[in-house]
Amino acid sequence: MKKECLDYKKAIEIAPGIYWVGYNIKNKWFQTNAYLVVEGDEAVLIDPGSQTDFSKVFTKIKSVCSLKKLKHVILHHQDPDLCGSTSKFETVAEIFIYVPQRAAVFIDFYGINSLINPISQDGEVLEFKTGRKLRFFLTPYCHSPGAMVTYDEKSKILFSSDIFGAFYNRWELYADMVGNKTHLESVKSFMEPYMASKEAVMNFVNKAEKLKIKMICPQHGSIIRKDISGWFDKLKKMRYGTALKEGETGL
Ligand SMILES: [Fe+2]
Ligand SMILES: [Fe+2]
Repeated sequence: MKKECLDYKKAIEIAPGIYWVGYNIKNKWFQTNAYLVVEGDEAVLIDPGSQTDFSKVFTKIKSVCSLKKLKHVILHHQDPDLCGSTSKFETVAEIFIYVPQRAAVFIDFYGINSLINPISQDGEVLEFKTGRKLRFFLTPYCHSPGAMVTYDEKSKILFSSDIFGAFYNRWELYADMVGNKTHLESVKSFMEPYMASKEAVMNFVNKAEKLKIKMICPQHGSIIRKDISGWFDKLKKMRYGTALKEGETGL
């Protein structure tokens, strides 16, 4: 297991120009990861976080990038843990939002007023002025009907939203710092009840396995930077939709 000393109170550069701007709450078993991609004079914020996350994420962004650069926000689905702070970001930057079409109908309810590009097809892109492309892939029922992931062609990072998310006993920024066995249990505890079905997850896997992926950055839990294909194999072996069984005993 790799020993690495990281200061989670600060933004952490996980690849050139790509920052983890999430936060870790001590002794909690669930947290959110927001990410910032800076390219030339533009930056994109991926899954900004909840209302209560705003000041922590905002402070980290300001530490690595001028607010003038913040032009784009990606919302991978409609949940409050990633959309909740978006209206607060609208008060500090003029942003354009990329969101799956089936999730777009809900985000007005967060008081979000920015222009929106609703994503309805695999392969649609956010293209920076430099020509760098972030490519979107729809992942319906993983876990919402309107859900997507983002692939950065330059860094080969897959921002996987709730897929590969985790409820954990022990958190570190990178899964290899926690250990495969421990992290697998954490991923299972989130993925198995929250992802609807094997069919839904395999739809994602079939799309993702066509990409060359160097790192998987989920919205919860730890970043996977080693043995990517092994982690896809682990995903294929999990059981999904397990919440259907809850309550059957009357407990
Ligand atoms: Fe979610
Ligand atoms: Fe989430």
